[in-house]
Amino acid sequence: NKLTVVDREGSTHDLEWEPDQTLMEALRDNDLPVLASCGGTASCATCHVFLEKDVFDTLGERSEDELELLAEAEGYRECGSRLSCQLGFNRDLNGVTVTLAPEE
Ligand code: FES
Repeated sequence: NKLTVVDREGSTHDLEWEPDQTLMEALRDNDLPVLASCGGTASCATCHVFLEKDVFDTLGERSEDELELLAEAEGYRECGSRLSCQLGFNRDLNGVTVTLAPEE
């Protein structure tokens, strides 16, 4: 998948999301400033991203753990916030724009 990522300074980056990566891994492995300090276990929220609402709506419900963490996160958006470590590779997300949330 091709992704466009908007970083915290508003610059855009094009990257390739490989099928064996979660979204968090794709961001981190492409040198975007995603700390992922919990290693992808939905307990740090440093992998918080925003998706466009129409894209967000195509994804399933967030788990209780994910939602709890996000609700406390900087800039939380009810229809847009996701923990990128909880998003496995998904062909339907080809070509979407992902925006990094403010740093925790
Ligand atoms: Fe920690 Fe996603 S990497 S919550």
